[in-house]
Amino acid sequence: MFPLAQRMKLVSDSITLAVSAKANALKKAGVDVVGFGAGEPDFDTPAFIKDAAKAALDKGQTKYTPSPCFPELRQAIAEKFQKENNLPYKPDQITTGAGGKHCLYMAFLAVLDEGDEVIIPSPYWVSYPEQVKLAGGVNKILRGRENNGFKITPQELEKAIGPRTKVLVLNSPSNPAGHAYTPEELKGLADVVARHPNVIVFSDEIYEKLVYDRLKFVSFATLHPDLLERTLTFNCHSKSFAMTGWRVGYIGGPKAAIDAINKLQSQMTSHITSFVQMPAVAALTDPRGAQTVEQMRQEFEKRGRHMWERLSALPKVKCVKPQGAFYCFPNVSAYFGKKAGGVEITDAVSFSAALLEQAHVAVVPGNDSGFDTHVRLSFATGMAQIDKGIDRIGEFLRKID
Ligand SMILES: Cc1ncc(COP(=O)(O)O)c(C=O)c1O
Repeated sequence: MFPLAQRMKLVSDSITLAVSAKANALKKAGVDVVGFGAGEPDFDTPAFIKDAAKAALDKGQTKYTPSPCFPELRQAIAEKFQKENNLPYKPDQITTGAGGKHCLYMAFLAVLDEGDEVIIPSPYWVSYPEQVKLAGGVNKILRGRENNGFKITPQELEKAIGPRTKVLVLNSPSNPAGHAYTPEELKGLADVVARHPNVIVFSDEIYEKLVYDRLKFVSFATLHPDLLERTLTFNCHSKSFAMTGWRVGYIGGPKAAIDAINKLQSQMTSHITSFVQMPAVAALTDPRGAQTVEQMRQEFEKRGRHMWERLSALPKVKCVKPQGAFYCFPNVSAYFGKKAGGVEITDAVSFSAALLEQAHVAVVPGNDSGFDTHVRLSFATGMAQIDKGIDRIGEFLRKID
């Protein structure tokens, strides 16, 4: 047995990966699987961004860059935060990382001491609790009620905050449920945090551009004068500009926190890849960036509404209408305790496995997000696939007894 560190016992095996490995194996064997698992836009990265990468390579931007990145990128991000989010971060209050994921991990490492508590509203993005554990923190899951659209209330937050609470994680719009807070709802949460001077907030705003039904997006740190100094704002190019593989994430926040994260970065990865940095500037500053995002948003809004209407029409399936991101998160628990093709359905994992096996539709069980009664379907796929997949789910459900 290879002598691994104790900390490896802290990290859970991903149920999501197990299901997607099975879906890939079926596809490889020639089965026509409808995949609703993707956590990334099905659009290609805009051509002008790719051209900027080619130009960067041709100009020889292939060597080490300053840590955390070229000054042009810090400047462009600071301007984006000011213009679009009303956040007055200076360039030295910005850092970058290899995607939103690495930014979050560095930030947890930079702020958590052993035993510090992190409040994570559920359903949550799968990596938050794992990163918290690796950084020595303790997860305190605050369950969002489905009949409140999975959103936590100021009262619920107030009750959850204790003497060891160090961080509150907020993710609006959200992965996996697609729920998003209105500015008034967020303000209610901000007022609670403001009353607790030892609590800081990680506001994961990576789906900010993908909001529907005319919902207005606001950045959490703008909602109370005390919170700018106590919030780290996370964003990335992955979802907005269809750049998941490029690994560009960034953080704005108080200089002391950013300096600490830069110190970690300088010893971990030095900086993000040299030739993605100027393309990342182009995405933020070229007007074609904003146009592409808006086109994608409109398309996702249509698909999301359609998927939600079709899911809601399935027998005994309940689904909160997504207000953002590109996910529906239906409750399928009415089928638990029954059998599908002789297989017992006990939770979202056995439901998803039977659905994949018998109807060739891949969905993500909600277990890794703190909800074993729900499954996640991504609508980052074409309308025809959405219809085909939901037709199959309908047939599958009708056979369950
Ligand atoms: C809520 C949330 N935060 C962060 C990330 C990480 O983004 P990135 O791909 O830029 O690492 C994801 C990716 O799915 C996400 O859904």
